[in-house]
Parts: sequence; structure tokens; C-alpha cells
Amino acid sequence: MKKSDIGVIGLAVMGEGLALNLEDKGYHVSVYNRPHPSHSVVQHFMQEYGKGRRFEGFEDLKAFVQSLERPRKILMMVKAGTAVDQVIEQLLPLLESGDILIDGGNSNFEDTERRVQYVESKGCYYIGAGVSGGQEGALHGASIMPGGSGKAWPQVREILQRIAAKAEDGSPCCEWIGGGGAGHFVKMVHNGIEYADMELIAEAYFVMKQTLNTGNPGIATWFEEWNKGKLKSYLIEITADILRHKDTEGNFLIDKILDVAGQKGTGRWSVIQAMELGIPLNLIATAVFQRDLSSHKDLRITAARKYKTDAPVFTHKPEIMYQEIHDSLYASKIISYTQGFALMQQASEHFHWELNLAAIARIWRAGCIIRAALLTPIAEIFDSTPHLENLLLSSWFREQIREVLPNWKALLIKTTRENTAVPAFAAALNYFYSLTTQTLPANLIQAQRDYFGAHTFERTDRPRNEFFHEDWTGEGNDTHAGIYNA
Ligand code: 6PG
Repeated sequence: MKKSDIGVIGLAVMGEGLALNLEDKGYHVSVYNRPHPSHSVVQHFMQEYGKGRRFEGFEDLKAFVQSLERPRKILMMVKAGTAVDQVIEQLLPLLESGDILIDGGNSNFEDTERRVQYVESKGCYYIGAGVSGGQEGALHGASIMPGGSGKAWPQVREILQRIAAKAEDGSPCCEWIGGGGAGHFVKMVHNGIEYADMELIAEAYFVMKQTLNTGNPGIATWFEEWNKGKLKSYLIEITADILRHKDTEGNFLIDKILDVAGQKGTGRWSVIQAMELGIPLNLIATAVFQRDLSSHKDLRITAARKYKTDAPVFTHKPEIMYQEIHDSLYASKIISYTQGFALMQQASEHFHWELNLAAIARIWRAGCIIRAALLTPIAEIFDSTPHLENLLLSSWFREQIREVLPNWKALLIKTTRENTAVPAFAAALNYFYSLTTQTLPANLIQAQRDYFGAHTFERTDRPRNEFFHEDWTGEGNDTHAGIYNA
């Protein structure tokens, strides 16, 4: 019997989709799912798709492993967390040296870092591959971000690139990201940016709701218009669809959906990493906190009753609001991507991954959830200046911000006056103001730290890295707390 080119473990939505995609590209695929007491996922899969296609179904892990061509390539599509460790433990005794495990779930990059070392210590290879694109992407082409055992890349490159989405120029949305947990780190930042994009679109929708009396179809039309220009992206496109969607009773479903947002953790992980690495990531942080705040529904209802405010009235002409909301969304999106890429830049240095930021922007141009027109100029900027510390320093971004700044400011003035929360638009503008302010009030913070804790400070009239302590009250002495970390 011909051995399979690759095996897929886990036949939930993503695993099933990727298995079908692999077979569709001409590969022989073995599939395995752990047996359930009540039903057989594998049997169901084989009944549904097995006929006349290059699939072998297994409920016995050993037989599954033995059905694979060596070096074996096994794509694990199981729930991130301990389930991945359990599958690795079950597999290792069945594998032979040089076999390759690929984790295509949303694993935490630190887990992947550890698993790469562990699996390599057993003589096999381990790849942590971020896969974005949901069910549609899994089936027809996802954006794939593999990292880990670099030696295994040449052996899986063709397979992964063939099932990846293709950008407009035909290039596959799958490139080697780097060692250790680099692939899952980059997928984590992708998801963080996804959170911020969604929050920004939600804020735009929120203001539009108060501005337009045309209801959901009118709002959808604006998003459709925007999807033809600089804001063109998958998330804007699906937003228009969502706003037009009616339920079985003929009502707009969006108006029936409870305003409580869920989350599985990748946005939060991005913020934790940003804090660890000292990179401001306020857009993603705001998006995570807004989901948190949304989930305190009862508290919000109580607070809203206690602080009754006038309903917002945006009396300005729709054409003016249209442009102001558009420009605020665009500017804030620029800030969000700037922060996300700055985080990857810093992580690359810190973890010695040598991330190619231009390549990352390119593999995000299709297949993934954050695919957007904005990624093309970002790729071009990093092509010409690979180590650019902050995208706002590029002349292209400077021009973009210059154009939209007046409308961005104007909208924030109006939303503040009209009691309308747009925290991500505001966080973005404040980041922009802070970044472009030569002298921030951090001198006062330093003085306070030195006053109460002798934490020392540097002086504007002395070279950097000379540290001073002041006897602020006349009662202190020369003892100080040591050098601070900036
Ligand atoms: C993707 C998505 C996906 C993620 C969902 C839900 O790239 O295909 O990012 O990986 O699981 O978007 O994430 P939350 O439940 O955290 O919103």
C-alpha cells in the first residue's frame, strides 16, 4: 500500500479543512482522531469525503504513524494547551529519528519554544506553525507562519506552500519565520492586530450608528465604499455583509446580538509580551480591555443608570462624518500596525529570531483574517529599511498621517463632547502625540521616584548614563536605590 505523504491529527473544523486542502493538492493524507465513546469522527470523515480520494482513516495511533512515508510529517490540529503535550507524548515512542511534528494550532509561543527543544532532544523535529484564515482558509488557502526546527523546513516547505493562500502576485502566503517559537509569536501578533482591527471597526460602526438615520444598510454602504480604497480588507468586507444579514424573521441579526465579546487569549498574550519587552501596544491592549469591559454587562447597565447622560447628537452633515470616521479608522489602523510590527522587531532582537518583517507583511496579504491593502506598503517599507524601528518614521506613513490628522482630531473632539466611547481611536491619537513629543513629562515621574525612593535620575545638562540623586527635603543622605532601568 502506498504510504501517505502527510498525516493530520484532529478533525475539528481546521483539521478537517486542512486535510481536505492537502488531498486536493494531490497529497495522500492519513487522518487520525481519538476515538469518542459515542461516535467515530474518523468514520464520519471517511464516509463524507473518503470515497475515491487519497485518504486513509485511523483510530489507532500506531497504525496511523506507520501509514506515513518517512521522514514522517504529522500535522497536529488539536486544542492549544495540554492536549498538544499529550499528543506529543503519545507520538514520540512511535516516531523515528528525523520525523517531523507540526503544531498548526494557536499555541502559546513559549510552549512551542519548549516543545521544539524537547522534541529535538528525542531526535525528531518540531514546527510551530501559526495558521490563519478560519475554516475558509483551511479549505482553500490559509496564511501559514511556520517556525521551530529550521532543519525540517526544506522537507515541509513544498507541502505547506501549496496549501497556503496565494497573494495577488502569485506568491504563497507561507514563509519560514524563524527558530523556536517564532512562528507562533508572529501568529499571536497577527491575532492581536486582528483584535485591534475589530475594535476599530466596531468604534467606527458605533459612531455611524449615532450619526446616520439610514440604519444598518446605510452603514453597510459606507463600509462597502471603504473597501474599495485604502481601508480595503477582509474584516471591512465581512462587516458590510454582517450588517446586511437578516434572521429568519426578517430582522437584522446584528441588532439581536448581545454586546458581550469573547476571547481565547492570543490578544492578551500579545499585550503581556509587549509589557515584557517594553513596547507600547496600546491599541491591542485597548481592544483586549474593551472585550473585558463588554463582558461586564450587568455592571455597565447599573453604571449607565447611575450616570445617565444625554443621547449623543452628531448634527454634522453625513459627508463630513463619513470622512472623519474613515480617517480616524485609517490613522488608528496605521498606529496599530506600527505597534504590532515594533513588537515583532523587538522580539526578533530579544529572541535572536532574525524576523523578516517584509516577508511577514507579505504572507499576511492573503488568506489570513487581517489581510488588508495596508500590508503592501508595509512590506515595501521593510524591504527598503528592514530594521526600521517604527513605521511612523517612514516617509510614506508620515504622508498618510499628515493627510488624515485634521479629521482624526475633529472626530475625537466630537465624540468626547457627545459622550461616545471610542477608546482605540483616542489611544491611537495619544500614542501619536506622545511619540512625536520631544519632551514628555517623564521628568516629573523621575523626580517623584527619586523623592520617595532615591531611585536617581539623569539630567538634561549632563551626558546620558550619569545618575543623580537629590536631597529633596534637606533631611536625606547620599544613599540611593541604585541605577534605574529605562
Ligand atoms: C485566525 C484567527 C483565529 C482565532 C479567532 C478567534 O487567524 O484564523 O485569528 O486563529 O482563533 O479569530 O479568536 P478569539 O476567540 O480570541 O477572538
